[in-house]
Amino acid sequence: MASSSSSSPALSLILIACIFSLTLSPPQALAQSPSAPAPSPSGPANLTGILDKNGQYTSFIRLLTTTQVAKQIENQLNTSTEGLTVFAPTDNAFNNLKAGTINDLSNEQQVQLVLNHVAPKYYNLLSFQSVSNPVRTQGNFAGLNFSSQGNQVNVSTGMVQTPINNALYQQSPLAVYQVDKVLLPPELFEAPAPASSTPAAPNSSSSSNSTTSAKAPSAENSNSGASGKSNMWLGFVVGVGMMCMGFLS
Ligand SMILES: *[C@@H]1O[C@H](CO)[C@@H](O)[C@H](O)[C@H]1NC(C)=O
Ligand SMILES: *[C@@H]1O[C@H](CO)[C@@H](O)[C@H](O)[C@H]1NC(C)=O
Ligand SMILES: *[C@@H]1O[C@H](CO)[C@@H](O)[C@H](O)[C@H]1NC(C)=O
Ligand SMILES: *[C@@H]1O[C@H](CO)[C@@H](O)[C@H](O)[C@H]1NC(C)=O
Ligand SMILES: *[C@@H]1O[C@H](CO)[C@@H](O)[C@H](O)[C@H]1NC(C)=O
Ligand SMILES: *[C@@H]1O[C@H](CO)[C@@H](O)[C@H](O)[C@H]1NC(C)=O
Repeated sequence: MASSSSSSPALSLILIACIFSLTLSPPQALAQSPSAPAPSPSGPANLTGILDKNGQYTSFIRLLTTTQVAKQIENQLNTSTEGLTVFAPTDNAFNNLKAGTINDLSNEQQVQLVLNHVAPKYYNLLSFQSVSNPVRTQGNFAGLNFSSQGNQVNVSTGMVQTPINNALYQQSPLAVYQVDKVLLPPELFEAPAPASSTPAAPNSSSSSNSTTSAKAPSAENSNSGASGKSNMWLGFVVGVGMMCMGFLS
């Protein structure tokens, strides 16, 4: 009794010092555990900036902006661990479309069309030669197929096929490739084909029955990641504090 009461001020001092020093030192070990491989220190790549610099993508930039997909992509580049690949149709590609092709689409269809040019993963040019088809895009469609012959890689929507040979940007987490055709998904532009080709749909998605208006995957709120991390840190501090107490008692 006597000894414990005499030592308790010292004990709490040590305890406080213990916790204090822990809170001062940065949580190195924790910070590098499960979170993303840190984005490039120079800040995330700027898709519209990259396209802008190349000069022949004004139509695509306009679509990216009016559909707000540009913003969504910026967001995703900040939070995604897988990166993104964007297939950017040239102004020529848009000019070669039948008049009204884009303007006759609803806003939501325009969003989906743009998202059909975005794959939720970083692919370098070489990887298309071995990628497994179809490659999912962020659009609400069947995806894109890649075929190669030697070094020549083609991308196909099933309706439109075009070579990929010009990388505008290729630095993880973002790859941007020129395409000379707009990647029109048959689902938007062709009448449903008579039962000849019903691709075996994978069972993975549970809510497959609501087709048309599936929203684009909204980018995760980056705040939740940050607060999760600080909660972990708090727990860690408390845990160590308790350990200190355990040792000292
Ligand atoms: C990206 O580049 C565009 C065009 O160069 C510019 O208007 C925009 O402010 C840039 N965005 C960011 C986040 O740097
Ligand atoms: C992405 O991060 C940059 C800084 O790293 C910030 O300036 C920008 O506002 C962020 N964009 C979004 C959409 O969170
Ligand atoms: C790529 O597409 C072109 C037509 O755009 C075609 O002539 C060529 O055979 C295709 N190559 C491959 C490997 O699919
Ligand atoms: C991709 O290829 C598979 C098998 O070759 C085919 O079933 C599917 O319809 C193709 N999809 C597209 C978008 O071309
Ligand atoms: C896919 O779903 C169907 C019924 O909807 C079922 O019969 C089949 O076994 C499922 N396949 C897999 C791989 O889960
Ligand atoms: C999807 O919904 C329709 C009615 O909206 C229904 O007739 C059909 O059976 C449903 N299909 C599945 C796979 O649940």
